[in-house]
Amino acid sequence: MYLFKRKEELERHLTTARHAGKRIGFVPTMGALHRGHISLINAAKENSDLVVCSIFVNPTQFNDPKDFEKYPVTIDQDVLQLTEAGCDVLFLPSVQEMYPDGLTAKMQYDFGTLETVLEGAARPGHFQGVGQIVHQLLNLVQPDKLFMGQKDLQQCLIINRLLKIIDSHVELVICPTQRENDGLAMSSRNMRLNTTERVNALRLYQALSYIKHHYKKEGFKEMKEKAINELKTSGFEVDYVELISILEDGSVIFPETAATTPLYAVVAAKEVGSGVRLIDNIML
Ligand code: PAF
Repeated sequence: MYLFKRKEELERHLTTARHAGKRIGFVPTMGALHRGHISLINAAKENSDLVVCSIFVNPTQFNDPKDFEKYPVTIDQDVLQLTEAGCDVLFLPSVQEMYPDGLTAKMQYDFGTLETVLEGAARPGHFQGVGQIVHQLLNLVQPDKLFMGQKDLQQCLIINRLLKIIDSHVELVICPTQRENDGLAMSSRNMRLNTTERVNALRLYQALSYIKHHYKKEGFKEMKEKAINELKTSGFEVDYVELISILEDGSVIFPETAATTPLYAVVAAKEVGSGVRLIDNIML
């Protein structure tokens, strides 16, 4: 696997590959890789000739500085995992390399209401930061396909919108959420949970599973309240439990009955003991 830290080196390597007719698959990450990330690398390998992964903990997408400071960094293990998975190129830039002129945003993206609901409401500025870095990375890598996980469902919708805003023909491939045996969605943040907190974290998946099994017969409002109360009594600060639907234009609505499709149950809550904020979603 090639490892590049400088933009020029990456661009030079990829220009040669592109001239040789290689189709490039790209997996952007913030490192602390787990099986979820590796499933994206595998999907990219199956669907492209050359796989590029980036690891960059992007400061502009963290609205909480403590969350940024505590974000797990496991570069040596990440490199091992990527090599084993057969990734071709790792791009590992520094903050200075990606933001030579400082962290102030050069442009604002119009993500519409997508930016004011759910994660957008709970983490002001987060999606502008994601847009900023993914836009830069896409310009550098110029992939044919971009691979992202359904666990970050709203981020996928934002990137879909970004691709339209920047008039990009990159194909976004959304891959299924990978789960631990008991159902916990894989996340780099899980590394920050101790044994008790890890057991408690399963409550999010249990809340979603409850909704999946009851949404056809129970009122949405009652179900959401029940899930929120259960999470609160189990030691969570709940940002939201919602049932959402995605319209054809990629915007999100909040239906009140099971008649609308596709329906997703989404949750975000902070495990108070650890201070770790977790998100998850399932299609109903
Ligand atoms: O999902 C992530 O890990 C990040 O938000 C991304 C897409 C790599 C941008 O920093």
